[in-house]
Amino acid sequence: LSDPILAGTSVLITAGGTREPLDPVRFLGNRSSGRQGVALAEAARAAGAEVTLIVTHLEVPVPHGVHVVHASSALELREAVFEHAPGKDVLIMNAAVADFRPATIENSKIKKRDEHSAPVIELVRNPDILAEIVQARGGNDELPRFIVGFAAETGDEQGSVLDYGRAKLERKGCEMLVVNEVGATLTFGEETNAIQVLFADGHESVQAAGSKLEVARVVIEQISHATKGHAD
Ligand code: C5P
Repeated sequence: LSDPILAGTSVLITAGGTREPLDPVRFLGNRSSGRQGVALAEAARAAGAEVTLIVTHLEVPVPHGVHVVHASSALELREAVFEHAPGKDVLIMNAAVADFRPATIENSKIKKRDEHSAPVIELVRNPDILAEIVQARGGNDELPRFIVGFAAETGDEQGSVLDYGRAKLERKGCEMLVVNEVGATLTFGEETNAIQVLFADGHESVQAAGSKLEVARVVIEQISHATKGHAD
């Protein structure tokens, strides 16, 4: 049993991976299973929060005891986030949002025109929902005061996972960033996760590893600490 450390707090969480339609039967997608987002919703609910979960494509069932809203593409997700964010205390942007979408959606199934050729798919950028909502908050007191982003990062010769995480936290302008290291077999679709939680206010980063529910509990604990700190 957990303490009701988020009692009286309303939390909006996005989970899963978006699907960007190409035609009525095809889409571009990603490997997000939605497990981490669902675990966050469960941990927040267990901590006494009022939870709204916006789900895109999930490979796991939606949890009980939370309000569920469905969205599929990045543009639909953006609409749902802006519809449900006003009045919430906390927003956790966990969904894996496609950076690009097909420039046009064909009304009928794309066909093979001849024996050999294949269509070229033109992509356009999707909006950065997280960055947009942080920006919109400037002129809107109704939007969540505490916004959490997620980042899947890989380190390289130019910088560590942490360096990239710090740069991203600054770029997005949110209060907290949960960074995890990814590779072909790490994190996406897996049962376990290893994270670093970074704070915009200079608080020292916190590390955690374990099942996605254990990691979710740490994230919820950190949100509880940080938001209580803000209220005092
Ligand atoms: O820039 P990057 O995609 O690594 O950032 C990840 C974070 O930004 C996640 O919190 C994700 O939900 C959010 N995001 C978004 N809109 C996008 C891409 C990512 O809100 N188009």
